[in-house]
Amino acid sequence: MSVISQDVRSGTKPDRNLALELVRVTESAALAAARWIGRGDKLAADGAAVDAMRLLLDTVPMDGVVVIGEGEKDEAPMLFNGERIGDGSPPIVDIAVDPLEGTTLTARGFGGALAVIALSERGSMFDPGPCVYMEKLASASEFKDLLNFDEPIGELIKKIGERKGGGAEEVTLTILDRPRHEEVVKEVREAGANIRFITDGDVQAALLAVSDDTGIDLLWGIGGTPEGVLAAAAIKCLGGEIIGKLWPRNDEERQAALDAGYDLDRVLTSQDLIDGDDVFFACTGVTDGDLLEGVRRSKGYATTESLVMRSRSGTVRKVGARHDRAKLREVTGGRYG
Ligand code: FBP
Repeated sequence: MSVISQDVRSGTKPDRNLALELVRVTESAALAAARWIGRGDKLAADGAAVDAMRLLLDTVPMDGVVVIGEGEKDEAPMLFNGERIGDGSPPIVDIAVDPLEGTTLTARGFGGALAVIALSERGSMFDPGPCVYMEKLASASEFKDLLNFDEPIGELIKKIGERKGGGAEEVTLTILDRPRHEEVVKEVREAGANIRFITDGDVQAALLAVSDDTGIDLLWGIGGTPEGVLAAAAIKCLGGEIIGKLWPRNDEERQAALDAGYDLDRVLTSQDLIDGDDVFFACTGVTDGDLLEGVRRSKGYATTESLVMRSRSGTVRKVGARHDRAKLREVTGGRYG
């Protein structure tokens, strides 16, 4: 079902850009999480972001259902999968949230943590079910026809290098630093490409891989499936491509996925992950990163930097905001400010 009217679809009438309302939601989560930067408590940081995001989400006029959330209802008191959000008025949408993408980054005061949200037409978001991890490849549009999981990664690197007018030494990958990646890292090194490891945060890494002038050509790695869906939402707005393949962690997860009808050999494209034409995405920096500045707090005010995008128009905005901390404390009942 489309969230936009016939007039709007035919291009004769602009409509509301929900992403501009969503940025208030991610700003709110980022401001709340920032209070926990470097304090060693990732659960508290995440909890603060969830609480703040929930508070603002209720102000967005929509009929939303959380497809990618904080998990099952019993473990997640808020923003759990299946939760209804908004005031029930149109548009009718699916919601993906990661109130704090990079809980450990925040707890340790490392760069690159984000508050993230995406919206698309009802029924359009891929529901990962029991599949926690996905193997991912993401690149800018100029290499997207090359992405595949069939050939060795060295071959893919070689082709990207050739397209860049050289060899593998022209190619830089970003990869999550995890023991499960050791074999592929070895192959990448043997191929002669460069690697920029990240300790966490592969949504930001995917966005950097599809964007120009970031120095990163390719994201590869096994990371969170929810993060894959969120990255796909952003990529539908920004351009580029992400492909993914579900990666069960053990036999039990494999069986649960098969029983639920998932095809573990299927290569999911960004279109499979978000099968919609009207996708809204917003994210706000929590800690300083390559994509966005993090929250800066001074005596009277705090500043935030966010990205706000919509796939239908292709508009990407960088939004800076200054928040009056005393007023924030007042309107949020002292939650943050
Ligand atoms: P959290 O914010 O939930 O800690 O996730 C951070 C993250 O690094 C994601 O960006 C990534 O997709 C996932 O964790 C990787 O999972 P794991 O840390 O289990 O390897």
